[in-house]
Amino acid sequence: MKKNTLVTAFAPASIGNVGVGFDMLGLAIAGAGDKVSARQVDKAGVTIKEVRGLDGEIHAELSSRADENTASIAAQALLDEAGIEMGVELVVYKGVPLQSGMGSSAASAVAAVVAVNQLLDRPLPTERLLAPALQGEKFASGGLHADNVAPSLVGGLVLCPQVLLPQMISVTPPKHVSSVLIHPELQVNTAESRGKLLTEYSIEQWLTQQGYLAGFIAACEQNDVELFAQCLRDTVIEPQRAASVPCFAAVKAAAMRSKAYGCSLSGSGPSIFAICADADAAALADAMSKACSEAGFECQAWVSNMDAPGATFETST
Ligand code: HSE
Repeated sequence: MKKNTLVTAFAPASIGNVGVGFDMLGLAIAGAGDKVSARQVDKAGVTIKEVRGLDGEIHAELSSRADENTASIAAQALLDEAGIEMGVELVVYKGVPLQSGMGSSAASAVAAVVAVNQLLDRPLPTERLLAPALQGEKFASGGLHADNVAPSLVGGLVLCPQVLLPQMISVTPPKHVSSVLIHPELQVNTAESRGKLLTEYSIEQWLTQQGYLAGFIAACEQNDVELFAQCLRDTVIEPQRAASVPCFAAVKAAAMRSKAYGCSLSGSGPSIFAICADADAAALADAMSKACSEAGFECQAWVSNMDAPGATFETST
């Protein structure tokens, strides 16, 4: 245990599902994320000293109770995984909007496990951080899906089907493509959204979506941007969730008119992402933002390379 050391980790926001891979495909984004600071304290167990926004103010909505925050739940799971009993105090700095579909709970959980791991005498390898971070995510969303935690941890585009966990398979997208993410000023509760999804699907639906996901992964493998665009579709989940984001139809129509290869909800929404050629990204972000605002919702937008980095940390004393 490294006494007197303060570790601060940053974990990026992420696009869950990437449209085509419900619960098993995720993409890190640049320019938004959470930070968590961790230091050893004498009192046993994980506590949260405070939760602050990026403006430095105490966060009005998030609990600092250790059993109610994804950061502390994940940090405790990491100590359990490492078989270590110790006292840790966290400070959480929220940069990702809550209930945004941008992997907010995952970013806190990942930043916490990365920070606390560096306090250990023998830090665990990255792949062993996934399971504890998922415990934090599960508290928030009610499911054991890694499509936000995995890209937030390792960066880039990651395939992480539940049946293959803890494997996180990095996928290299076609060259010269970027993501655009817009966040309308709305909130969608992921656990509630998941609770409303159908639990039974037809063989036709299964074959269609499986075909698109297979084609999408092959398109990445072969650097085939036409196949990539053909396959970047969600025919199963998006139709069930679109109505919960009133601006979605208008934003998607604007994106597809502005040369997006595909456009869908990020996670359970309300954020909406599109993927396009690098050269079209700025104009696409403008078109999506304008459509969102014309539909009555102000928004923030991020443009990212497809290889945005995962979590990072720095230490100080
Ligand atoms: N895959 C999850 C869902 C991500 O769509 O419910 C939530 O951000």
